[in-house]
Parts: sequence; structure tokens; C-alpha cells
Amino acid sequence: MSDHETGAAEASPVDEEALAEAYNRALALEKAGDLDAAAEAYREVLALDPADHGGAAVRLASMGRGETPTRASEAYVATLFDQHAGEFESILVDQLGYDVPALVRQALEEIAPGPYERMLDLGCGTGLAGEVLRDMAAHITGVDLSETMIEVTDEKELYDALYVGDAVDFLQHADVEPFDLITATDVLPYLGELEAFFEGAAELATEGAVLAFSSETLPDETLAGRPFMVGPHQRFAHAQAYLGKMLADHGFAGLAIGDIVVRHEMGQPVPGHLVIARKQKAD
Ligand SMILES: C[S@@+](CC[C@H](N)C(=O)[O-])C[C@H]1O[C@@H](n2cnc3c(N)ncnc32)[C@H](O)[C@@H]1O
Repeated sequence: MSDHETGAAEASPVDEEALAEAYNRALALEKAGDLDAAAEAYREVLALDPADHGGAAVRLASMGRGETPTRASEAYVATLFDQHAGEFESILVDQLGYDVPALVRQALEEIAPGPYERMLDLGCGTGLAGEVLRDMAAHITGVDLSETMIEVTDEKELYDALYVGDAVDFLQHADVEPFDLITATDVLPYLGELEAFFEGAAELATEGAVLAFSSETLPDETLAGRPFMVGPHQRFAHAQAYLGKMLADHGFAGLAIGDIVVRHEMGQPVPGHLVIARKQKAD
């Protein structure tokens, strides 16, 4: 039986009708290639719904028409994955060829096989990482912003504790014992700035703990020296150099940093990195 807690904030009331009209107009204009008019409409959307359930901020950034936000809004991530929880595995795994949790398992078996006492799966989704790593960890905690994704995971009865909430908030504030394995598979694409994420992971990691995560990337000429940016599919891409800096700044040594194909999008491979790192002894 899971310890299933809810930490999601209440959404403030919005004019749903005006919001739907502006959002649909923005999408149609974007599809028609009128990006300036689409950007104007997305700004209307943001004014109507500052919590940004529709992800207008990342859409603006992906069109090159807005500041790069520091992360995807909580409301957007929760809404997006609540909507897709039912068909998540058939879309991501079967249609888009996603198998990052299996790649994590393979890498761990090769370089850090455990066994682990306490695993924390950040952005656990429907529990795919827990499924493939269950026999490597005695206790598994999952955290996700989407209550519906957590419900799917809960039904699998694989995790020992589940929390609905933001991963960074959990890392910074959860009153829990530290973890010797922390995973975040396909979650960084919803976070841009990673300082708080790594700071929190370092806080909740035991000495010698393993951190395993994936990221998406873009060609160097597209990133153009930026640590992160919003890519064409509204997800954040991170530069490998930025990931390396975050690890080093927060006391993690990289055990393996490899190039992977995270998934396929419109038939094209989406490139990324798989990182396995170990928390070093504090000086
Ligand atoms: C693409 S899915 C990956 C799910 C799972 N890790 C896997 O490998 O199958 C991304 C998941 O991360 C969750 N997520 C994204 N940003 C998050 C955040 N800041 N805090 C908690 N969960 C987050 C989403 O709700 C979603 O379930």
C-alpha cells in the first residue's frame, strides 16, 4: 500500500471561455505560420491564465518569440500529463520508441549495480523506471506533478511511497530519509534552470549515492553557447557542458555520460544524454 500524498496547489479561477478562444486562435495561427500573431495570442493566453495551464510560455519560447522560461509551469506539466496518462505508455514506448529506463538499468548493471536501499524516482510518471529497477532497490519512492500519472503507478503496486508534487520542491522540502539512488528519466526536458534541482538532489543523496538521469539536447550551433533552451517541441534541451557544471558544482562525479536517442518525434530521432553520477564525500 502506498503512502499517497497530494501537494498540488489549487488553480485560481480563470475565464475558461475566453482562454479557450485565445488558446485555439494561438494554435491555429502558429499552425498557419503567422508566428507574430500567434505570439500575440499566446500573450493573451498568459494574461488570462498566469499559472499557464496551456504552456503558452514554452510555446512562445519555442517559436523564438519570448524569453526562455526557467522551467515549464507546474500547471502545464500537471495538465499535460493528466490528459495523457491513459495512453502514455502506448504513445511514448510503443509509438515513439522510448526506453530510457531500460538504458538506465543497463548502465547501472555495468557500472553501479547496487543493491540500493532507497530509490527516489523524480517525475516517475507511470512508474516505468520503478518497473525495470524494482529488484535493484529495497524501497522506491515516486514523485510526480501529475496526479493521474501517480494513480496509474499506484495501481501497479510497485512503489513503496508516492507523492503528487513538484520534484524540486520535494528535493528541497520533503521530510524523508536520504536516498542512495535518485533517478529522473525524461524529466529534465520540463526543467530549464537546474541549479535548484541539483542542489536538492545533493541534499537528499547519501554519500556515494548514484544519480541517474536523461536529458534532451540540440546541435551546438542551435544552442549557441546557451546552457538550455526550449526546443521545437516545447521541451527544454540542455547543453552537455551545463550538465557537467551542475554535477561538479553540487559534488557529483560523472561515472558515465553517453549520447542516447531519447525518443522519435515525427520519425526523427531526438538526441539526448544519459548521465550516471556518484555523490562524492563532502570535503
Ligand atoms: C515524459 S514523462 C517520463 C516519466 C517517467 N520518468 C518515465 O521515464 O517513463 C515526464 C514525467 O515527469 C513529470 N514531471 C515533469 N516535470 C516535473 C516536475 N517538475 N516535478 C514532478 N514531476 C514532473 C511529468 O508529470 C511526467 O509524468
